[in-house]
Amino acid sequence: MIAADALIAPTAQVGERTRIWGLAQVREQAVIGEDCVIGRGAYIGAGVTVGDKVKIQNDALVYEPAVIADGVFIGPAVILTNDHNPRAVTPDGELKSATDWTPVGVAILKGASVGARAVCVAPVTIGRWAMVAAGAVVIRDVPDFALVAGVPARQIGWVGPTGHRLVELEDGSWECPVTAVRFEEDAGTLRELT
Ligand SMILES: CC(C)(COP(=O)(O)OP(=O)(O)OC[C@H]1O[C@@H](n2cnc3c(N)ncnc32)[C@H](O)[C@@H]1OP(=O)(O)O)[C@@H](O)C(=O)NCCC(=O)NCCS
Repeated sequence: MIAADALIAPTAQVGERTRIWGLAQVREQAVIGEDCVIGRGAYIGAGVTVGDKVKIQNDALVYEPAVIADGVFIGPAVILTNDHNPRAVTPDGELKSATDWTPVGVAILKGASVGARAVCVAPVTIGRWAMVAAGAVVIRDVPDFALVAGVPARQIGWVGPTGHRLVELEDGSWECPVTAVRFEEDAGTLRELT
């Protein structure tokens, strides 16, 4: 279902069963996967790629060249920036055009979530299953499974695929309180124990 008042560029691709709500805009050459939900007023920039089963909530702004993997959650009013040193004009006072600056992107890896009104300042990568708290400003890469919060965002814990915080066990490993799946930490990275 694509709302009648959504603006979908003719060159954009939208996967099967993806729903796009009113006033959302999907720009030229953007590629959106299957079974996604794009909320009211969301903006998907030119050439942005969005995986399958992604939720992009109302008024989120996904500027190109963002890359969004499968199963990602982007909360309401989130902004993924694309210009690290923005200026409207050159030092000579001329309006800058597309050739006067180099866009940089945000990558969000499989299953990660970005909370409401967070800003991800490109270039950054949000790791697999990581979670960004509401209102955070992410200025550096976020490791897989990390929970980050604040301005600037700092790691305050680990989360598993259920989105719940992992609990540290006596032996130093980490466990999901919902699924009992365990994880091992090594030099600031976490990996699931199989
Ligand atoms: C980050 C989050 C997952 C933490 O939840 P939690 O594990 O229950 O954490 P708590 O509420 O117990 O807070 C733990 C600590 O983190 C801090 N904290 C929690 N949320 C925070 C946030 N958004 N920004 C900054 N700090 C935050 C708390 O102040 C607390 O700090 P303290 O230990 O110094 O007192 C949750 O607060 C959050 O932001 N969820 C995202 C909600 C959202 O945007 N949903 C989008 C759909 S509408």
